[in-house]
Amino acid sequence: MNSAASESADGTFVETARRSDTIHADLANNPGRYRMLTGDRPTGALHVGHYFGSLRNRVKMQSLGVETYVVIADYQVLTDRDSVDQIPQNVRDLVLDYLAAGLDPDNRLTHVFCHSHVPALNQLLVPFLTLVGMGELDRNPTVKEEIEAAGLTHVNAAMYTYPVHQAADILFCKGNVVPVGRDQLPHIELTRKIARRFNQRFCAQSSPVFPEPDALLSDAPKILGLDGGQKMSKSRGNTIMLKATADETRALLKKAKTDTDRNITYDPVRRPEVSNLLLLLSLCTGEDPGREAERIGDRGSGALKQTLTDALNDTLAPLRARRQELEQDAVGVVKRTLTLGNQVANEVGNATLREMRAAMKMDYGVV
Ligand code: TRP
Repeated sequence: MNSAASESADGTFVETARRSDTIHADLANNPGRYRMLTGDRPTGALHVGHYFGSLRNRVKMQSLGVETYVVIADYQVLTDRDSVDQIPQNVRDLVLDYLAAGLDPDNRLTHVFCHSHVPALNQLLVPFLTLVGMGELDRNPTVKEEIEAAGLTHVNAAMYTYPVHQAADILFCKGNVVPVGRDQLPHIELTRKIARRFNQRFCAQSSPVFPEPDALLSDAPKILGLDGGQKMSKSRGNTIMLKATADETRALLKKAKTDTDRNITYDPVRRPEVSNLLLLLSLCTGEDPGREAERIGDRGSGALKQTLTDALNDTLAPLRARRQELEQDAVGVVKRTLTLGNQVANEVGNATLREMRAAMKMDYGVV
């Protein structure tokens, strides 16, 4: 059973979706009620799937005035990769993509930081691990899928425990909303359990330390790769990178898979490749994909690709221009962004750790 199915089987998913809708509706009115935590593994620069799936939404939250912590999950990279050689370049690309897309660390609302530089965050992991059973870790459907997808023959312990680490990512800053795709829901469910169990075990006589965070389900539909058959992802070589040039974008779209029916229709089941291009077009224009299909009509996939190339290049032009500007001083920009973000993360993490120690009766009056 996949993660979505197992969630809905016990009715959790319906409840999660209901709460997510309520929060979506409330965010614009009460941005101050929410602290958002989100993140990415530094495994490469971001592509248009990331942009329409999550990054654009983060920028929107920022403009609503929601405080957002963005973790660059560098320790998580160690769970399924041997080499660390690419990490510095990947962190650099992530930060530049974030800023190019409009995240603004200077506004005191958005904090970009990394696991490896926030000791207090990682310390939460130790007590948290005592609140979770081995069986629970073993059953996590997303972890199982990842192990299978990566074809790992030797699985290290951090692969099984990274969802607990992810709970630490969320709870160290008392994040109460986490924008995620469905595959991450088991981790949010575990985070809620950890928060509840910590509060029950250690805070019976005092106020609870942790909120039970809610998932904020993305309304962005899944974007397939240019092969049209599977999710857009760098490892599958079917992406358009955000930082690609307009010409590269044109060349990639020219090669995108379509079908031979000249009449363009939106039919994700029978025509996944054409429909995926229409979906991308609709994400650029804000129009319904079916409506975009009608406009192109029987002018064929060449016209569809041409229209999409122009729309995508127009949408991404300001990001790309900004990225080029940032590239002029990439070292300085990355250093400044992470210095600011790590500092805030350390402050908030240290404060949470002090509260936790008090709850666990480990505040001995020393610093
Ligand atoms: N596990 C997420 C991924 O693989 C990355 C991540 C790490 C994350 N910590 C997080 C996402 C906390 C949301 C919240 O993409």
